Amino acid sequence: MAIVVLQDIHKSFGPEVVLDRLDLQLHAGEKVGMVGANGSGKTTILNLITGQITPDIGRVIRQKGLRIGYLPQEATFSGERTVLEEMHAGVEHLLRLQQAIHDASHEMESLAGAELQAKMRQYDRLCHEFEIAGGYEYETRIQMTLAAIGLEPELHHAKTSDLSGGQLSRMGLAQVLMLETDLLLLDEPTNHLDLQATEWLERFLGNYRGGAVLISHDRYLLDRVACKIIEVENRQAHVWSGNYSNYIQTRDTVRLQQQREYTHRAEMIERTRDFIARNKDQEGMRGTARGRKIRLKRLLKENPDFLDKPVEQRTIRFSFAETDGGSDLVIRCEAMGKSFGDLTLFENLTFDVLRGERLGITGPNGTGKTT
Ligand SMILES: Nc1ncnc2c1ncn2[C@@H]1O[C@H](COP(=O)(O)OP(=O)(O)O)[C@@H](O)[C@H]1O
Ligand SMILES: [Mg+2]
Repeated sequence: MAIVVLQDIHKSFGPEVVLDRLDLQLHAGEKVGMVGANGSGKTTILNLITGQITPDIGRVIRQKGLRIGYLPQEATFSGERTVLEEMHAGVEHLLRLQQAIHDASHEMESLAGAELQAKMRQYDRLCHEFEIAGGYEYETRIQMTLAAIGLEPELHHAKTSDLSGGQLSRMGLAQVLMLETDLLLLDEPTNHLDLQATEWLERFLGNYRGGAVLISHDRYLLDRVACKIIEVENRQAHVWSGNYSNYIQTRDTVRLQQQREYTHRAEMIERTRDFIARNKDQEGMRGTARGRKIRLKRLLKENPDFLDKPVEQRTIRFSFAETDGGSDLVIRCEAMGKSFGDLTLFENLTFDVLRGERLGITGPNGTGKTT
């Protein structure tokens, strides 16, 4: 069942047309990846779905009562609240109850007799209320989510204005994942996640019952999470079934097929024109040539896009100047080590990088990859 329908959308910013005649449907429980070049309109589509912006033409239809969790590409917070307070956004009543429990237990210390008895009853009542409201589970979930996303307990009471961009972005993700939602819209959530946190997100989405749109450049994550890929290109959205690898394969096959068909059509026209040119003044062939000319003209009139080239993927090409011979060794590290004060990042690191070789560096945050 469709939970969100974008119908015939047109969206411009000033003179720039970003989306044109875009149609897209999202279905309950479906996890889809969204890919496309920078500036192709991916974030704009999410903003249309949330209703933060409205289309110039067309309609956005959301299922009634649909609860959307949105992680913007750049998370912004007021900065006044602490990490824990932010994590309680939407469940402030739990935070208030927790505070009341804390206050009651504090007050009990200085009471005695009947007053203490009364306070204890109040304390029990508050704890019971907290439990009924799912408070304990919620607190556990907050702690687990923050840990999984890599925000250490030392940071939980820090004001969000003291967090780094990466930490803020991770907190934003944790916050969105805590909410009760039917649809998650995650705009490049993995940019600030290390491998472990990314794997945790993958498991989270695997268990999540709602639908999700995941904008990501992480093809491995898309391969494991997405059952469909939305490709944003040429101001429209094309939906491909399957994961990222399927999408690449199918897309390439379809493009190749379109290219072939185009070549066939172009060759046919070329041959026909050539035939007409060679025969239009030939005794005995004039009639045939004229017939072909008329048919060709009609064909092109009835199919105005007959000779349109298939849409070509915008590709980025790099070119590196050839070096003159030389060795294939680009970098050699021998027994390299680096410490900051007491913290030893690595020791005895030895490796070569050869010309044309591509190396990946992986490891949790803070282990020394950038160093
Ligand atoms: N609020 C805005 N005002 C003006 N231009 C915008 C605005 N939002 C997006 N754009 C432009 O629309 C295009 C698509 O942007 P965006 O949806 O952010 O792309 P993506 O997320 O795919 O990188 C870009 O050229 C961007 O500059
Ligand atoms: Mg974007």
